[in-house]
Amino acid sequence: MGGHALLILLSVASLALLPGATPLQPSQAWSLFKLRQLLGDPPVLGTWHNYTDFCYGGDYKTASAFVECYEDSVTQLHIMGDPGAGARPLPATFSIDAFFTTLSRLPDLKVLTLTNLGLWGPLPGKISRLQKLEIVNVSSNYLYGELPRGLSQLGSLQTLVADHNMLGGKLPGWLKDMPLLAVLSLRNNMLQGTLPESLKDMLSLRSLVLASNNLSGNLPDLKNLQVIDMANNALGPKFPRLGRKVASVVLAGNKFSDGLPADMLASCYLLERLDVSGNRFVGPFPAALLSLPSMEYLSIAGNRFTGRLSGNASCGENLRFVDLSSNLLTGSLPGCLLAAPGKSVLFSANCLSTAGDDSQSQHPSPFCRNQALAVGIVPEQGHKKSGAKAGVVAGIVLVGALVVSAAVVFVVRKASAPKARPARRLVENASSAYPSNLLADARYISQTVKLGALGIPAYRSFSLVELEAATDNFQVSSLMGQDAHGQMYRGRLSNGTPVTIRSLKVNKSQSFTRHIEMISKLRHRHLVSALGHCFQYNLDDSTVTHLYLVFEYVHNGNLRGRISQGTEGRRLSWGQRISTAIGVAKGIQFLHGGIIPGLFANNLKITNILMDQNQVPKIGSYNIPILSETMKSEMQGGAGSKYPPDRICRVPNGDKIDMYDFGVILLEVISGRPISSIYEVEMMKEQLQSALTAQGPSKRSNLVDPAVSKGCSDDSMRTVMEVCLGCLAKEPTQRPSVEDVLWNLQFAAQVQDGSRRSSEESPLSPSQPHAQSAHDSPTHR
Ligand SMILES: *[C@@H]1O[C@H](CO)[C@@H](O)[C@H](O)[C@H]1NC(C)=O
Ligand SMILES: *[C@@H]1O[C@H](CO)[C@@H](O)[C@H](O)[C@H]1NC(C)=O
Ligand SMILES: *[C@@H]1O[C@H](CO)[C@@H](O)[C@H](O)[C@H]1NC(C)=O
Ligand SMILES: *[C@@H]1O[C@H](CO)[C@@H](O)[C@H](O)[C@H]1NC(C)=O
Repeated sequence: MGGHALLILLSVASLALLPGATPLQPSQAWSLFKLRQLLGDPPVLGTWHNYTDFCYGGDYKTASAFVECYEDSVTQLHIMGDPGAGARPLPATFSIDAFFTTLSRLPDLKVLTLTNLGLWGPLPGKISRLQKLEIVNVSSNYLYGELPRGLSQLGSLQTLVADHNMLGGKLPGWLKDMPLLAVLSLRNNMLQGTLPESLKDMLSLRSLVLASNNLSGNLPDLKNLQVIDMANNALGPKFPRLGRKVASVVLAGNKFSDGLPADMLASCYLLERLDVSGNRFVGPFPAALLSLPSMEYLSIAGNRFTGRLSGNASCGENLRFVDLSSNLLTGSLPGCLLAAPGKSVLFSANCLSTAGDDSQSQHPSPFCRNQALAVGIVPEQGHKKSGAKAGVVAGIVLVGALVVSAAVVFVVRKASAPKARPARRLVENASSAYPSNLLADARYISQTVKLGALGIPAYRSFSLVELEAATDNFQVSSLMGQDAHGQMYRGRLSNGTPVTIRSLKVNKSQSFTRHIEMISKLRHRHLVSALGHCFQYNLDDSTVTHLYLVFEYVHNGNLRGRISQGTEGRRLSWGQRISTAIGVAKGIQFLHGGIIPGLFANNLKITNILMDQNQVPKIGSYNIPILSETMKSEMQGGAGSKYPPDRICRVPNGDKIDMYDFGVILLEVISGRPISSIYEVEMMKEQLQSALTAQGPSKRSNLVDPAVSKGCSDDSMRTVMEVCLGCLAKEPTQRPSVEDVLWNLQFAAQVQDGSRRSSEESPLSPSQPHAQSAHDSPTHR
């Protein structure tokens, strides 16, 4: 049987893979309705009906209540009651224990928002059953009692927000057992006592918001924190030790009474907000604070700071709000504060000699002097050296200011490859033919998906600390590539795994967590696979601002390097080329049907097919929705998909766009000539056409890369060429499905292998169990 008969199948088939529409597991739907009932059927859930298809129905979703699924399981639940209506506690019959028991029947829950719902009772320890939780917001309820110890078992929890409740007791020391906790916000509760020393061991913690509680005593070292909001407690007297990366420090309304550590603060070049108002600070006001490069908001109001301000002190560029009111400052207000459109500057109730604005009335200067003496401070120290240090660091680029770009791999590094062993094994693997009915069977896909042992580490969430360590703090030397829109870093995890890390800026409005579900499934032998993600948080409201995606690092060159630009020893043989093409097709098959929703229009290019050290091809660039979504809002075009993301799935024949690109890759694989223009494609198509209709094999053989054409069987050449031509059909509907392509390439591999064996009389082959060969089995090291 030749390839002709098979080709007929190709054009008939129109098996466009639909993203599967798996309905939610009935037991989970039941749990959701049960939750609604336990909440007393709140108006916000009025759109949930018995026939609601939680995973795919659109209408029931509102901004205040929605569910996200992955496949048939709930991964996110958001119910936000109406704050305007003044939520009351639920009736006495409400049982928070029953509520969390029901909740724990949604075992895949990662993101949970339950706000303004009147939940009351102690937070149950059985929250620990929701092992996958990453982000929890239970603000504005009536939760009381201590934080349950069970929380410490939530190893993936990154954000815990329980503002505006009645939680009490001390902040527990076991919080340090949560390795990824980055945001802890318990504003406006009833926490008491001192903060645990173990806070300083929480390397991932970035934002700690404990404002408006009843906390007392000195703060532990807070060197890893970027956001500290401790306003309105009874903390003090000592100013805490801060790290140099701190961005926002709010200590207003406490009992701090020592001085400000001027030297430490002068090195905080990322500090944007410092609010120490309403304390009992004494001592000189470090005027260098005004010139910190990032400083935007500075309030020292309502303390007893002393010192003589100098009219020629300098201000930082970003300063927009300064409140010096009600201190004991003398001298004159710096000119840079006075002549500043767009800046608010308050300075009343000091002893400054100001020209102009009478509304900000001042005490006579003896007042300040006497008051200062009364608190034991000798005034008139003048202003301290202004921040020379700060000036130096002003130029440092913020690590956070990273943006997006399209391709997973920007710069494909031509690594100096360890001498590739031209894999005899690979050729043998290629002969592993799947029975055709298995290929057509959808279960085949899920089998491929389930190949757990991919030889890569399990998917997980990373902490920013880990990624900083992996990239040496995002050093320039770790930068793999960038363009105007984004950056990509190379790094090495602490266990030695090399990775690439992509930084993405996240729009507030984006429901990025939905994408995380999908990204976490992007793991396949023939993809540069996702290893994990990491969130970075907004300084003001703890929302996610950046998303880092961690991928495998594949560093053995790209497919073009093994074909048209390959040097002698590195060029793939014909059999290897077929099996490589099979690998790429399997990768495409996975992108289309192995994940939900499928990824189409992946802009496949031969230079983005990367080869690993075992000569396994991996698709290095694919159409991750969050990339193209962000791109849509921030840039036009680029290296990503040619189609707006929300249209991709709906583009008729979206999968066939990839088949065309695959055809172009195949063209280069066949001919061994780099193809760079549509013109070349058209020319070669014609040549293929005539070669296929030619009688003898010589015309076909002439089209094939001379470096390999000797060993080609005519049947396999013909089949590959037919596949290629089919993929390049003008009409998308005429192009074969990826299943058909795979089927035919497998056939080509088989006949090639057969002919090779009969000509070489390989002694190995009879004993090699082909059917079980390792083409899809774990990568051996
Ligand atoms: C929804 O289902 C519940 C029981 O599952 C039933 O009591 C209720 O009448 C149903 N409501 C509608 C509108 O069908
Ligand atoms: C705050 O804590 C102190 C003890 O540390 C206690 O005396 C005081 O009553 C508490 N205030 C409130 C409002 O609970
Ligand atoms: C600011 O002015 C004072 C005199 O008022 C002078 O001694 C000082 O050197 C000046 N500083 C700068 C930085 O110009
Ligand atoms: C938590 O929920 C409240 C109320 O819905 C919202 O205002 C706040 O922004 C949320 N916080 C985070 C960090 O998502």
